Amino acid sequence: MPSLRSLLLAALASAAEASLQVVPGATWTASNSQHVQAHGAGVIRVDSTYYLIGEDKTNGSAFQNVNCYSSQDLVQWKYEGALLSRTDSGDLGPNRVVERPKVLFNEATGKYVLWMHIDSSNYGEAKVGVAVGDTVCGSYEYQGSFQPLDHQSRDMGLFADDDGTGYLLSEDRQNGLRIMKLASDYLSVESSTYLWSDSIEAPALVKVDGRYYMFGSRLTGWDPNDNLYSTSTSLTEGWSSWATFADVGSKTYTSQTNYVLPLPDGTVIYLGDRWKSSNLMASTYVWLPLNISGTTVTMANRASWVPPSSAAPASTTYAFSAATYAGSARNVTCSGCSSGSAAGYIGGDENGSLTFSGIRSDASTRSTVQIRYANGDSTSRYAGVRVNGGGAIKIAFLPTFGSVGTSTLNVDLRAGGDSNTIVIEGIDGGWGPDVDQLIVPVS
Ligand SMILES: *[C@@H]1O[C@H](CO)[C@@H](O)[C@H](O)[C@H]1NC(C)=O
Ligand SMILES: *[C@@H]1O[C@H](CO)[C@@H](O)[C@H](O)[C@H]1NC(C)=O
Ligand SMILES: *[C@@H]1O[C@H](CO)[C@@H](O)[C@H](O)[C@H]1NC(C)=O
Ligand SMILES: *[C@@H]1O[C@H](CO)[C@@H](O)[C@H](O)[C@H]1NC(C)=O
Repeated sequence: MPSLRSLLLAALASAAEASLQVVPGATWTASNSQHVQAHGAGVIRVDSTYYLIGEDKTNGSAFQNVNCYSSQDLVQWKYEGALLSRTDSGDLGPNRVVERPKVLFNEATGKYVLWMHIDSSNYGEAKVGVAVGDTVCGSYEYQGSFQPLDHQSRDMGLFADDDGTGYLLSEDRQNGLRIMKLASDYLSVESSTYLWSDSIEAPALVKVDGRYYMFGSRLTGWDPNDNLYSTSTSLTEGWSSWATFADVGSKTYTSQTNYVLPLPDGTVIYLGDRWKSSNLMASTYVWLPLNISGTTVTMANRASWVPPSSAAPASTTYAFSAATYAGSARNVTCSGCSSGSAAGYIGGDENGSLTFSGIRSDASTRSTVQIRYANGDSTSRYAGVRVNGGGAIKIAFLPTFGSVGTSTLNVDLRAGGDSNTIVIEGIDGGWGPDVDQLIVPVS
């Protein structure tokens, strides 16, 4: 039987779960110790679990997998597997484009229906593909591809209205951005619902309090632009002219829309991709709460935040120089780092490591710690991170392109002014990143 103390601690821990944070633009290490590979993604919520379904860009732009991850909190992601993987030939074969996968559940058939952009490597086919699954994150059976109502279709999205009617959102380069009504089983397109003649891609549609909001970007390839929204109380008419929602000139905080996710508490979250066109696997995610108020939508930038929509708690920053060095670890120059230096030579044959002692947390709870780092390689580096004597957790550190990046670590901290120890060490014999700072939430 659990003691009163352990029950109390468990209650406190769940009350304080608020220390798990979304950090836009960071390396997000999933349960498979790799950065989340779910680009151009959508999210579907089943019971209380979120499933993130997107493109695997581990080896670049050509189709590899449509990956699925699950989470209870939108921060800690478990890699579940692939819904579709590359085949020897055909639509899903080598050197194919399979982008912006989105899944809807069809109540009538009891099936999960996956739509995606299907193309040749030069984007000349401009089609949609459809696949069907019995479980949200299981394997899907590919049905084939076509041009919806004989129109070109590149970037796409899906939307289900309150009455269960499904819609395809489709960028038709010759005519504009379309909303198209799906058949009742969601497997085909029935009719065109609305056409904007504007050149808008990356569409995502959400309904809030009886009003529809369509989000999208202008056409600037992998480069970001100031994304836009249009709103109406009807899908078929009355759409407002396109307007910005993020700070003008910020290029949507360097991101492109991929999905807009309503949460049970009424918060609506923008999900964007921060593409790295020179190394697509290093693309990250910019997720931020939207402020939707009548016909007005705005979105403020945040370095980090707590789902569903809270500001991040205060944090303490620990510089690399506060750590104790062991093995090969030593100071290195780091032009993008906060002081021009970092702790390097972590890992390797001489097992360089850093020990940060006396780390403060005011709550015993799972917390998102940010590791600011540099990685000049074109591939990810990895480090083992041990907290309070626990086992090493393998964390990924994406390339930082001459700048400084952030990698997140979700770990249990103990309450106490100086009661936590974090060790960053090599793993599997490789080199870790050059470490600049740790940023640790206080509560
Ligand atoms: C990436 O390429 C390597 C080497 O060809 C291969 O082993 C690996 O399975 C590929 N990964 C994906 C996700 O396709
Ligand atoms: C949301 O936007 C409305 C008006 O558009 C504004 O009055 C309100 O202060 C904003 N809320 C937040 C939390 O920024
Ligand atoms: C490493 O850099 C820190 C911060 O600049 C400095 O305090 C420390 O003395 C340096 N260590 C060595 C061995 O140079
Ligand atoms: C590397 O150093 C860390 C920190 O001192 C230690 O925990 C770990 O056991 C060492 N690993 C090896 C392989 O020596």
